[in-house]
Amino acid sequence: MAERSVQLLLLLIQGCSILAVELSTHNQNPVVQEHQSVELSCIITSTKTKDPRIEWKKIKNDDADYVYFEKRIQGGLEGRANIQSKSSLFIKNTSRTDNGKYRCEVAALEDDKKIAEIYISLTVQVKPVIPQCRVPKAVPVGKSAVLHCQENEGYPSAVYRWYRNSEALPDDSKSTLKFQNSSFTFNPKTGTLTFTAVNKGDMGRYYCIASNDAGSAKCEEQELEVYDLNIGGIIGGILVVLVVLALITGGVCCAYRKGYCTSSSSRSSGQSYKTPAKPEGVNYMRTNDEGDFRHKSSFVI
Ligand SMILES: *[C@@H]1O[C@H](CO)[C@@H](O)[C@H](O)[C@H]1NC(C)=O
Ligand SMILES: *[C@@H]1O[C@H](CO)[C@@H](O)[C@H](O)[C@H]1NC(C)=O
Repeated sequence: MAERSVQLLLLLIQGCSILAVELSTHNQNPVVQEHQSVELSCIITSTKTKDPRIEWKKIKNDDADYVYFEKRIQGGLEGRANIQSKSSLFIKNTSRTDNGKYRCEVAALEDDKKIAEIYISLTVQVKPVIPQCRVPKAVPVGKSAVLHCQENEGYPSAVYRWYRNSEALPDDSKSTLKFQNSSFTFNPKTGTLTFTAVNKGDMGRYYCIASNDAGSAKCEEQELEVYDLNIGGIIGGILVVLVVLALITGGVCCAYRKGYCTSSSSRSSGQSYKTPAKPEGVNYMRTNDEGDFRHKSSFVI
């Protein structure tokens, strides 16, 4: 019972305000592309006053900025907008900054309290610009790889799609038979294409398209190379290098030894060479070390 009487009261109040000023609109959520014109329609369908007070405000969080006040366009829309058909706001060259919620307020002059208002949500769409794409140049088989695609101008925010050799890639390689040999996942909202382990089949020319309701833009194609990381070959290569190093070291030592031998043989007629008695051997080693040291220091100098 109480509920019903409240409803009745509400109806009565509404009825009263309808008697004062009544507003309607052709479109409460107009959508337009940037630089196009748009009408925020606010139509007075009934009013007792001949000359009601008309105001437009742009809602900003809890605040509101004047757009049309005292019969003048104010703020950011100055010079770009005018009032049409008595109370509608016409924006000639929309800008992305015009996005937002507007309020049309109409008041019967005799009674300021009898205000009618209507909210219009304006969407100004912006085409995406050419996205920034990052593709690694070369990745070894089995390694992970991440491809990035992003742009920040589009409104609403762009969604992305990667293409390989002009073929659109799905969000998950495992979802399509065709890409079953690949191992990637893709997030269309972030533009990030992630390979857990690339294989030869992933080689190709990649590009990305950013798109929203206003349009799309494509980045330049980039080549992704996938190469074999041949472990056996690498180990073999390292071994060859080690062997060569060993041979060189051996050769250098031998050359030192020979140099020592020729000089010592000229001194002691190769005696120590033929009969290396223990103390002599120690001597030999020591002198050799000294010779080595001398050689090195002369090299340094
Ligand atoms: C609309 O405004 C932009 C700047 O925001 C300007 O570059 C462009 O020339 C204007 N277009 C028209 C048709 O006035
Ligand atoms: C996937 O790999 C297998 C084995 O290497 C091959 O036979 C098959 O043709 C590949 N599938 C595709 C779609 O490339």
